[in-house]
Amino acid sequence: MTTQANAQVPDGCAFVIFGVTGDLTHRLVIPALYNLAEANLLPEKFCVVGITRKDMSSEDLRASLMQGLQKFATRPVDQEIADKLLYCVTSVSADPSDPASFDRLRERLEKLESSRNTGGNRLFYLATPPDAFAPISAELGRAGLLKEDGSAWRRLVVEKPFGTDLASAKALNDHLLSIVTEHELYRIDHYLGKETVQNILVLRFSNGMFEPIWNRDHIDHVQITVDEKLGVGHRGSFYDKTGALRDMVPNHLFQLLSLVAMEPPAHFNAHSVRSAKADVLAAIQVQREDEALRNSVRGQYIAGKVDDTEIPDYRSVKDVAQGSTTETYAALKLTIDNWRWAGVPFYLRTGKALGTKRTEVAIKFKQAPFAMFRCTPVEELSQNYLVIGIEPVEGIALQFNTKIPGPTIAIDGVEMTFRYKDYFKVAPSNGYETLLHDCMIGDNILFQRADGVEAGWRAVQPFIDAWAKAGAQGLQSYKAGSEGPEDADALLTRDGRNWREPG
Ligand code: BG6
Repeated sequence: MTTQANAQVPDGCAFVIFGVTGDLTHRLVIPALYNLAEANLLPEKFCVVGITRKDMSSEDLRASLMQGLQKFATRPVDQEIADKLLYCVTSVSADPSDPASFDRLRERLEKLESSRNTGGNRLFYLATPPDAFAPISAELGRAGLLKEDGSAWRRLVVEKPFGTDLASAKALNDHLLSIVTEHELYRIDHYLGKETVQNILVLRFSNGMFEPIWNRDHIDHVQITVDEKLGVGHRGSFYDKTGALRDMVPNHLFQLLSLVAMEPPAHFNAHSVRSAKADVLAAIQVQREDEALRNSVRGQYIAGKVDDTEIPDYRSVKDVAQGSTTETYAALKLTIDNWRWAGVPFYLRTGKALGTKRTEVAIKFKQAPFAMFRCTPVEELSQNYLVIGIEPVEGIALQFNTKIPGPTIAIDGVEMTFRYKDYFKVAPSNGYETLLHDCMIGDNILFQRADGVEAGWRAVQPFIDAWAKAGAQGLQSYKAGSEGPEDADALLTRDGRNWREPG
């Protein structure tokens, strides 16, 4: 994560993509590389090696990636830049079930590296289904492709999901760290590529006024909301094994939580920032299963309408099991056991097929201590929230009370807002640009570290276990297009609180 002024052009390298024919590569990776090329942030000495299982010619692969780029580019495509980028693409076939193919890959790569003069630096990007992470990395290791050679670096990038529970995440960490070092490993969480998410660090630690009140003395509670309008679509097979909790909470929602709740890092570098984030995740109280049941709500959508689109029952989605009890909505109440946050609940919720798309962190400050204005008792004052809008509203809002102009003291809640679009003109991006650029310059600050990943799974494991045992019992239904299961409100109202209404 660098600043604009010192954005560094990476060293020459080979960018090797496993899963090059897949959706992620077409939709996000190539458009992001294109945006980097347009910003002159790709090295001159560069090659993209697309690994395919079947023999596919480089021409066919380039044509397919070009089609993807035309469809998913975030800005008008300049043909010259696109051609230059795609000229760097070569297709090579390799299959982890055929070890000899990885030896051939090494030979091909060495030839390409010498013809493109990339200096032997290699980045292996696993844009594959998660069950391929272990076999591919094992083969890369066995074939010596990940072994550092003199000053030439090696990096391994893995996508989410990183494990499906604590045990599998630990096993995957152990496996990968037996092949590469932590510094060579880049675990992607695309939320960290979002400007609005990175800005949480800047908001907290480049302004003197927030830190003194950023604690249990002044903050009543924190709400983290990631509501989506889309249903599960064509991802039934993946989603039914996964559910809203695993899909979103230990990764995306915990990234938001850790940035909001971490202690100020000693330095702005990968070690300090990731340590501070891992510390706060490790301080989330690990609940007993009975507490986890009491402090959570899960729901599954049934048919309804989101805007003008009819959404069928979750259970009728292709590849979803009959009678599935997989949750498409999850709400949790968590606490963080440390001096800053003791007694401050963190309420998290996320769901599919909801009526509103909204990703935000809302920090609710404590009420004024007593009723000085006779006509407006404290409990009628509107609430003081600092709202960090991640998307679609990108900005920051502060809600406070003000006097309604007139001869009497009448009070109303108002909002002071900052919107990125009012201040900055930035070429639209898809959030992967920063992440890919950081992998190439060797900056791990925006990537998860093993201890952070495991601390996240440790905190959600009791919910996974308790829900698995409860099965259908306690699973609520909610209508697509609604605001989610009614019990999600009860999670807060029983504490005398409410979810923030969309502004
Ligand atoms: C992905 C999940 O990681 O994040 C999806 O697998 C989810 O289910 C997506 O829709 C949400 O990302 P964003 O950036 O749209 O909030």
